Amino acid sequence: MTKGDEKEIVLPIRRFAEDIIAAVRDNDSAVVIGETGSGKTTQLSQILLEAKFAETGQIAVTQPRRVGAVTVAKRVAEERGVELGTEVGYAVRFEDRSTPDTKIKYLTDGTLLRECLEDNLLQKYSVIILDEAHERSLNTDILFGVLKRLLRRRKQQSDMPLKLIITSATLDGEKFSTYFNDCPVFNVPGRCFPVDIIYAMEDHFKDHVSAAVDTALQIHLQQPPGDILVFLTGQAEIEKAIQRINSEISGMPEDSCGPLLALPLHASLPPEMQVRVFRAPPEGTRRVIVSTNVAETSVTVEGVVYVVDTGVVKQKHYQPATGMDSLDVVPISRVGATQRAGRAGRTRPGKCFRLYTKAFYEGQMPIITLPEIQRTSLVSAVLYLKSLELEDMDVLSFDFLDAPGQDALEEALRQLYCLDAIDADGVITDMGRRMAGLPVDPALSRALIEAEKLGCVSEVISISAMLATEHVFSAGQGPGDVLRGGARNGGMPSSSTGRVEGPRERLRELVRRAEGDHVLLLRLWEAWRDRGYSRDAAYEFGLDLRGMNFAKEIRRQLEGVVKEVRLHGAGKRPREDEDVLEGRWRKLSDDVDGTLSMSPRQRAEDARRIEATCHALTVGFVNKLARRLPRHNGYKTVGSTKGQLAQLHPSCSGLPEDDDGLTPEWVIYHELVSTSKPFLRQVCPTRPEYVLPLVAKMASINVLRLSRGRIREQVRSGGDHPSKTNAFDPEHKSS
Ligand code: CDP
Ligand code: MG
Repeated sequence: MTKGDEKEIVLPIRRFAEDIIAAVRDNDSAVVIGETGSGKTTQLSQILLEAKFAETGQIAVTQPRRVGAVTVAKRVAEERGVELGTEVGYAVRFEDRSTPDTKIKYLTDGTLLRECLEDNLLQKYSVIILDEAHERSLNTDILFGVLKRLLRRRKQQSDMPLKLIITSATLDGEKFSTYFNDCPVFNVPGRCFPVDIIYAMEDHFKDHVSAAVDTALQIHLQQPPGDILVFLTGQAEIEKAIQRINSEISGMPEDSCGPLLALPLHASLPPEMQVRVFRAPPEGTRRVIVSTNVAETSVTVEGVVYVVDTGVVKQKHYQPATGMDSLDVVPISRVGATQRAGRAGRTRPGKCFRLYTKAFYEGQMPIITLPEIQRTSLVSAVLYLKSLELEDMDVLSFDFLDAPGQDALEEALRQLYCLDAIDADGVITDMGRRMAGLPVDPALSRALIEAEKLGCVSEVISISAMLATEHVFSAGQGPGDVLRGGARNGGMPSSSTGRVEGPRERLRELVRRAEGDHVLLLRLWEAWRDRGYSRDAAYEFGLDLRGMNFAKEIRRQLEGVVKEVRLHGAGKRPREDEDVLEGRWRKLSDDVDGTLSMSPRQRAEDARRIEATCHALTVGFVNKLARRLPRHNGYKTVGSTKGQLAQLHPSCSGLPEDDDGLTPEWVIYHELVSTSKPFLRQVCPTRPEYVLPLVAKMASINVLRLSRGRIREQVRSGGDHPSKTNAFDPEHKSS
């Protein structure tokens, strides 16, 4: 599509501009429902700007995803012919490209929540658009409750009332309207052409990737021109499918079909790859876009006539009872299936091939998707609500659009108490306020603050950055995979110098120390850093270069944030200069066999910092503690409502063993995952003396008091309820 074409198109929402403007003028809030691609995200803000709603304040538009906020802001700046960061800007975690003069500001829902902490009346905004509400992201759901209160308070306490608009691509307008005091609802008819739905004769949930590839190829061979959109569940599947499509096509006799261009689309795609799907292909080339769920409602690809719907999506589920997080491939909802099919009818009549049966659609597919708030850990969300310090705040009875489970809320309160973020009466502490100010999850923010006290901030930042990186090792999930050889030959680059054993040997040296995964990650980070972040060094240790560069970027951002918070926050703490520190350690870890060539003093100092790092991590990961069973190397988690038995994941680097072959009694872990059975991933030994005070604290919890927060009097007169659960497991006393 060229620039000239774009001006010709009048997006559907523009036709309702007058009505929307009038409704916003006359009401505090309004709901706008419109088919994906009708212009809600890019046009609504501009319509309001043109109607002078930005004269008393800025217009904010929230997005559930960072990439959404950035690309849309770019697009709107382009449409308005202004430089990004002036009239149109964006703000996302770690990055703010807006000024006080910015009129339209795209920001993630998480960033808007953070802004509420600085100014809980959000005075700088005249209009807030909660966009993509159908996604029901956790942060958007929290904003529903927070902004509903804010509408009232802005009326009472400010001379500039706030206008709130909720937009959604699905037909859930009534529900939003009821929640926001029966506000008006606009339905913007889309430009949707009829779409033929073709069901499969059998359900292809077990082999959905091959079924999708075969269907796409068949479409290409048999159907008239028009792009194909295939829905898969994740990056790995997408890459596999594209590989297969390309090899099948190249194996076909020439002239048997026209050219086919297979393109991936998922959130972790680098930006230059993302824009490729917005560019028109060469004349006569058919495109097949293989995408995650992002193409269902958040990204619109023009030219799609055929949709291949596998009927599945990858979704995170959290079980508060055990603290277990799982990422499962689950059936989509009927609402989702309708959305996916709709993607085929944007430019002309289309077809949707469902790789499941009509019987499944009608009988077994859930009608709607569970909102994230009902299937995720609520620790950050509850810390957030607590830090708003609202007068009548009882998180257990907060006005949620859809309330999360009571058990998940209680679990979050317990964790926050153990992290010292709230006191026994549920009131936020100074620690809690500092934690809320750091844009990382509560476990990490607590560990970072502890690290500051113990003099190992630099180490904890490095470990956090490495943990945040999905692919650290070139061969798989962990050092175990590299040592076993892994899928990609230990990450050997093609220009190898013949040291086939290289990566495994270097890594083996580190693994042999059995210091646990967290320390191993730290050592690997430092080894790579000290070798100038080079490609060769990454290879030497079996590291994935792209993953490591990602870790480097995260580390840089984290360091910036920690420095900033330190300036604003606790100025009293001893300042430790990262540069000096790094310089000191650069010498030490010059080579990894390192500690051998250290002087006794250096070795003692190395031991000290590693010890301090484990201590700081333990304090932060208080809800991720596990204790070995008395006589064998299985572990049971401690800190959740109910202990979960779990094994060390095969990707772990190994732990020290005593004479009986037993691993340490206490460990911290990064993830409790359920694949074939429950596993602990990324495990590090810790000491009983760090753990026992935390366990004692867990045993003293009274959840009802924690939920209330400010109203101390009531809690006192209401009497103390005995703690409902006792996280300390007496079963262990004997060991
Ligand atoms: O939010 P909604 O789905 O209603 O629509 P939108 O995101 O405002 O998109 C309106 C139109 O702009 C669609 O035709 C998109 O394909 C196009 N668009 C684009 O070409 N590039 C972008 N970065 C964003 C939107
Ligand atoms: Mg949109």
